[in-house]
Amino acid sequence: MQVLLADEYGFCFGVERAVEMVEQALDEGATVRTLGPLIHNTQEIKRLEAEGVATINAPADVAPGETAVIRAHGVTPEVQRELEGRAERVIDATCPFVTKVQKLAERAAAQGRDVVVVGNPDHPEMIGVRGYAPQHAHVVRDASEVASLPPLHAPLVVSQTTLKLSTFLEAADAVRLKADSEPQIVNTICSATRDRQDAARALAGHVDAFYIIGGKHSSNSIKLLSVCREQCAQSFLIETPDEINAEDLRGARRVGVTAGASTPNWLIEQTLARLREIGAEEQA
Ligand code: F3S
Repeated sequence: MQVLLADEYGFCFGVERAVEMVEQALDEGATVRTLGPLIHNTQEIKRLEAEGVATINAPADVAPGETAVIRAHGVTPEVQRELEGRAERVIDATCPFVTKVQKLAERAAAQGRDVVVVGNPDHPEMIGVRGYAPQHAHVVRDASEVASLPPLHAPLVVSQTTLKLSTFLEAADAVRLKADSEPQIVNTICSATRDRQDAARALAGHVDAFYIIGGKHSSNSIKLLSVCREQCAQSFLIETPDEINAEDLRGARRVGVTAGASTPNWLIEQTLARLREIGAEEQA
């Protein structure tokens, strides 16, 4: 039995950077508090908790002397200021791709223009971006929601970083009908999610079983599972290697492995080791 890893898997750039920033602060002896869970992976959160990192729900929960971490999704400028007022030190782990959306929105709002952000209005990333253009931002899920917007002045159209491209382009088209001039359309979708899905899709047709390592509630991991299932019925979303059932691998000659953007390397290594135990020979 061969184990084949997808070409792209595991931590995206922004998540890896955020975890590294937290680890560095721990090394320096800081008492670290993250505003919201640092990443969507229970096992990694537990590991960080064991190292002393705690999750807080509001800036008011920061005690004097503590280091507060802004996670990769980013926050509003108000929340950032509040953290800065309370914490000994604030580590801004906002993913640079998210910072770009925030800055674009802020600049357009300062010019008095409308800002249409295509994404999930309840997602922390969108709440943060809206805070950079408070009187000007309109967050819409898709083209159908653009119809209910008021007339738009010189709009900027940007997207949530994890959005599907077709949803963004359709919404941007719909904005044209509402705008008093040609909108400025900036595709701010990050390629990390798509790259992981493309790599899983490319492998799924060539394996007898596929393991997707990721949180059961992680949306990018669930999407990876459905991409793999399209071509490989024996595809399984697992959080830990204990969930691998050797019976499922009976007769399998090739096994695919991928992992969501919040799955740490150590968990991927443990899974590969478990597959090796079951008789797998890893192939790069
Ligand atoms: Fe950043 Fe893209 Fe990851 S926006 S946090 S690199 S999914």
